[in-house]
Amino acid sequence: MIASAPGKIILFGEHAVVYGKHALVSAINLRCKAEVKKSGEIRIHSKFGTTGLDFEVHPYISFAIKRFSEFRDLKGVEVKIESDIPPGSGLGSSAAVTVSTLMALNEEFNAGLSREEICEIARKVEIDVQGRASGIDPFISTFGGSWLFPDMEKFLVPYSFFVIYVGEKSTSEMVSKVAKLKEKYPEVMEGIFNAIDSISIEAYRRINDPKSVKDLISINQSLLRGIGVSTPEIDYLISKLEEEGIVAKITGAGGGGCIFGIYEGKIPKNAFIIKPELEGAKIEDT
Ligand code: MEV
Repeated sequence: MIASAPGKIILFGEHAVVYGKHALVSAINLRCKAEVKKSGEIRIHSKFGTTGLDFEVHPYISFAIKRFSEFRDLKGVEVKIESDIPPGSGLGSSAAVTVSTLMALNEEFNAGLSREEICEIARKVEIDVQGRASGIDPFISTFGGSWLFPDMEKFLVPYSFFVIYVGEKSTSEMVSKVAKLKEKYPEVMEGIFNAIDSISIEAYRRINDPKSVKDLISINQSLLRGIGVSTPEIDYLISKLEEEGIVAKITGAGGGGCIFGIYEGKIPKNAFIIKPELEGAKIEDT
């Protein structure tokens, strides 16, 4: 059985969303495919190698199998992953791996889980691996489309984005870095999160006005820098783009990953173009 699930781009509100603030997130046209077959033992194949249940090399898939086995007795399974989404890029590769694996397991083992249940298990897997998470990544990967969280308002994005990959990052490290800063300076951090909250709401209202969205991208990036999730390399790259009149911000956890901006016909150096995607996780024709 083969299932696929999309990656995502956080337009506004990363990190603040972990503390209940608003965020705008879109599924994107990069997908992860998971092929699942019943077998006598557990084998996981991906670009990181072939392992059994391995919480170091394949944490998301291993926790997905472990959590799925609470619903269906599972002696062995072979899982093969092929993904368009660069790992550690902030484009939702972990959630897409988890959701596509769970959806394929659900079909292969006739577990009868609903889309909502698959999303909920994927959210638990994310917490198993990361410790703290908002749940937006598994939600977007399961359901597709563009959403305002936590209000669950769906919207359409009328443009594409350029994305520049600036190196691998660890989401859990960045999330715990922000948590430490919040513990030390609770009022300062709450103030910044409230400002990010307003940015997400304003961007939702003005999503059809790219000029305003670009202003908000720039303000949100300054605040992400304030909470310590930018890097000197990202700051340099963004200031170089600004010299060409292009605005960009981090998407996802930061500390590396990707930066993005609205694509307006000119592809910046080393960038690729991604589109918002309506379709969530699905079973692929075999
Ligand atoms: C990671 O894609 C986004 C963060 O806001 C963490 C989360 O929402 O779970 C950094």
